[in-house]
Amino acid sequence: MPSPGMTRRTTRVPPAADPRLAVSLGPLRLRNPVMLASGTCGYGEEFAEFTPPGVLGAIVVKTVTRQPRDGNRPPRVCETASGMLNSIGLENGGIDYFCETLLPALRTYPTIRIVNIAGATTDDYVALAKRLDGEKGVDAIELNISCPNVAHGLDFATSPPQTTELVRAVRRATERPILVKLSPNVTDIVAVAKAALEGGADVLSLINTLQGMAIDWRRRAPRLGGITGGLSGPAIKPVALRMVWQVARAFPKAPIVGIGGIASADDALEFLVAGATAVQVGTASFLDPAAGRKVVEGLTKVVDDEKWESIESVRGTLKSSEAGPPA
Ligand code: SIN
Repeated sequence: MPSPGMTRRTTRVPPAADPRLAVSLGPLRLRNPVMLASGTCGYGEEFAEFTPPGVLGAIVVKTVTRQPRDGNRPPRVCETASGMLNSIGLENGGIDYFCETLLPALRTYPTIRIVNIAGATTDDYVALAKRLDGEKGVDAIELNISCPNVAHGLDFATSPPQTTELVRAVRRATERPILVKLSPNVTDIVAVAKAALEGGADVLSLINTLQGMAIDWRRRAPRLGGITGGLSGPAIKPVALRMVWQVARAFPKAPIVGIGGIASADDALEFLVAGATAVQVGTASFLDPAAGRKVVEGLTKVVDDEKWESIESVRGTLKSSEAGPPA
């Protein structure tokens, strides 16, 4: 949903390794549907050996805020059944450090580079978007309105009117494509997705982590310094699939990136069938930093085996009429 009168810059298209895997995600043309999720691959630098940026559809770098942040009290991560809890608290060096120190390397990556930003107020997001708008090597901006681990982290994502107002303000501040990362910590994901689209979001990313906690009963103590945290990994895949399917059913033309427990080509394809155009691999990269590359390789094999001309043909092909939702 472009704003009236706004001219978009054309996105740089990396050379397609296998044209059958290429997908159009709103205004972005990706070499394949596999992205690395924000907060799980740093700024790409340590991943290159295992998952070279050139094999990916896109990389989404760790959240950048206006000011540097130290993050939350340790411990900041703990393992749970089929998942991981984190309470990082958006530790990062701030936008000046990002632009001066990290962006030069990111610019050299032969893939789509998406910068994830977060703030406590609309002004914060607008200032960040304006700053990035003037920087080369930033192909798109993902608005993190869904971090459960900081004060005000969920203010926008849990209020459809605030989501619309925020996205509209950022839309005016940048010509870059805008992805909006939604929270599963809501009762009606479709209402928030609608609000983001009405504000001018180009793409919806869903889901961020689910709020949870872990307790060491012997010490009568929480396992995380931040007490509560965000749950990710295979444990949340069914929730993510359900939400992607609901949003895709409500807005069949909206470009959606599925996130939540994706560790294999099969996982990725489940999200595409549910209605996503692309996926982000997140927690799986902590177990295996080559997970992103392996998902791409797995998709290539499935495309071969199934003799698909384009992976885009799979999108939204769930035969949900065979088993309808409960009355
Ligand atoms: C964090 O920094 O606490 C995690 C980021 C997020 O949940 O968006």
